[in-house]
Amino acid sequence: MARILTGIQSSGIPHLGNILGAMQPAIALSKQAGNDSIFFIADLHSLTTLKDAATRKQNTYGTLAAWVALGFDYHNNILFKQSDNTQVAELTWYLSCFTPFPMLSNANSFKDKSENLSDVNAGLFTYPVLMAADILLYDVNIVPVGKDQQQHLEMTRDMARTFNNKYGELLVIPEAKISEDVMTIPGTDGRKMSKSYGNTINIFLNEKELKKQVMSIVTDDTPLELPKNPDTCNVFSLYKLVADQVGINAMRHNYLGGNYGYGHAKLVLLEVLLSKYANERKTFNDLMNNTAQLDTIALLGAQKAKAISTPILAKVRTALGF
Ligand code: ADP
Ligand code: TRP
Repeated sequence: MARILTGIQSSGIPHLGNILGAMQPAIALSKQAGNDSIFFIADLHSLTTLKDAATRKQNTYGTLAAWVALGFDYHNNILFKQSDNTQVAELTWYLSCFTPFPMLSNANSFKDKSENLSDVNAGLFTYPVLMAADILLYDVNIVPVGKDQQQHLEMTRDMARTFNNKYGELLVIPEAKISEDVMTIPGTDGRKMSKSYGNTINIFLNEKELKKQVMSIVTDDTPLELPKNPDTCNVFSLYKLVADQVGINAMRHNYLGGNYGYGHAKLVLLEVLLSKYANERKTFNDLMNNTAQLDTIALLGAQKAKAISTPILAKVRTALGF
């Protein structure tokens, strides 16, 4: 049996890049026989950058609702908010006392921001320790993450090994599952889709706003009559990721034939997004209109999470002489 764990920060509502690149692959893994999965909303991590409480609350609900809407079976697995199990803060402290300063100053998450040290808070600096505690608190075997998180997983393994060398084999050494084959989903401007670039497609938006995002996809200025190259077009790149083969062939044919405008292609993409994710959009909206239900789901998840972490943390405390 393998225990799978992953987290998503509540720094926004999951976009198509998060969904195709991280959430759907993780849910697929959770459905494999013999796996039990713990997925959580990393709302404590979001505090390193996001200070507005109302936004965090809304994003946390949105991320919870997205996991449920995308089909994560939270009844037979665990879905919870990181901040609901504060044992993670305790383990973070213990681990931080074994984490060398140079290891943290070498973390990309810190280095990316380190030109302007006055903008770096201690939480951002110790971000990898909190992430290690997220994982080591639950005896996790496999952590599916994007390539950008690989270094954090290596640090987690290092911290666990250091601890085990000194106190015995207490902590389970996790393995990263880096999905090399998961494509980088392009955003509306052709760069990697990312909240920080403002180029996202948010399938959970209402139809009017989603349409606005889709219509904003950047295209070249080939005139309507002329044939167009599907393989260099941002609209087609996104369409390929969500449409079926018949649709993809038809759009390729239309591009190559000429007299087919990008505006038309965008409307076809919008239609596929709306129909492909119709059920997910409905569930998402129902849940966002009934946050009491999301609170119940998160509370149940936190109880199950604590049932796993309590004895693990107790062993750590005993080992440390507390
Ligand atoms: P963002 O770049 O929008 O801030 P995050 O860093 O919060 O996204 O990413 C959350 C998860 O989604 C990570 O596992 C990351 O690898 C994945 N992810 C984010 N953007 C993309 C993308 N454009 N393509 C594929 N996966 C992505
Ligand atoms: N740092 C991860 C990200 O930004 C989110 C995260 C926090 C996480 N804790 C985790 C991922 C534990 C996997 C396991 O994507």
